[in-house]
Amino acid sequence: KKRIFSGIQPSGELTLGSYMGAIKNWVALQEEYECVYCIVDMHAITVRQVPAELRRRSVAQLAQYIACGLDPEKNIMFIQSHVPQHAELSWVLGCYTQFGELSRMTQFKMKSKQHADNITAGLFTYPVLMAADILLYQADLVPVGEDQKQHVELCRDIAQRFNGVYSETFTLPEPFIPKLGARIMSLGDPSSKMSKSDPDGCVYLMDKPEEVMRKFKRAVTDSETAVKYDKDAKPGISNLLTIYCAATGKTLEQAEEEFAGQGYGIFKPAVGEAVVELLRPIREESQRLMDDKAYLESVYRAGAEKAGRIADRTLSKVYRKVGFVAR
Ligand code: TYM
Repeated sequence: KKRIFSGIQPSGELTLGSYMGAIKNWVALQEEYECVYCIVDMHAITVRQVPAELRRRSVAQLAQYIACGLDPEKNIMFIQSHVPQHAELSWVLGCYTQFGELSRMTQFKMKSKQHADNITAGLFTYPVLMAADILLYQADLVPVGEDQKQHVELCRDIAQRFNGVYSETFTLPEPFIPKLGARIMSLGDPSSKMSKSDPDGCVYLMDKPEEVMRKFKRAVTDSETAVKYDKDAKPGISNLLTIYCAATGKTLEQAEEEFAGQGYGIFKPAVGEAVVELLRPIREESQRLMDDKAYLESVYRAGAEKAGRIADRTLSKVYRKVGFVAR
């Protein structure tokens, strides 16, 4: 079986963007692949976090993974900091990564603007840790949204370089990006990505129905009237159409036909309703799971154990190849 690795930072609540860009595919791929899904808490501390919040969100994120349909019996689900090999491989890979490569990462450039008062070495070397995540498990495929493509490509370059210097060590991973929903835009500003740090433009998986409806009714559109997909001329409506289709499984053509001749006043709440129905079972199931902390703990413990065994094989191989003395 081919292997998948992916992860999400518990730096905020899970969003509709991360669901449509990543988790939806994780669920779809779990039958076909051996999947490793991680809660990347070590990545989250590249910007300042409130400790109690980070701890709560890390566990809540696992509940939400399961509520989205990921089966803990089929997949390995764990918390990154529980498997020390991530940090260990990250150090080695950092020695095979160029300063210039990291300087070119668009996420770093963006985040170092947002956090100008706290541009840490961790923020800079973030993609190296991400490469370690992926390469430890010899992943073939990495299901992510569009914004992570550059990081997966850097991971490939690092792997290729390492393989070239020594010998075949790492599987070269491919990004797996959805055709629809790879880049969900903010409801408040359709020219920027929906992100967890923008509460008004962002729908969270745990938002209550009233909240979801309110956000969609207020979504920024344009001064025309036609519900038509045109990414450049009508970014707001195109984003809403994308969300509607990703939520319902309809095609863009079907959706355009459905709303032909109807105004935004009908269309926007309809998108809201579709998202409410998509999120309802997810929210209810994660609330139920959050009442069973012992169960969640058993899932992430078992996950870390299985992940650790795979990670150990890769790390031992790497340590031997670079010339470290066996313990
Ligand atoms: P993160 O935590 O920012 O986002 C999690 C996943 O959700 C996708 N995503 C989106 N997709 C579509 N539209 C959006 N508006 C949107 N917002 C987020 C992201 O592309 C991502 O797939 N560096 C990663 C976490 C990570 C990782 C890894 C991923 C760490 N190690 C190894 C894959 C493999 C990140 O910051 O994702």
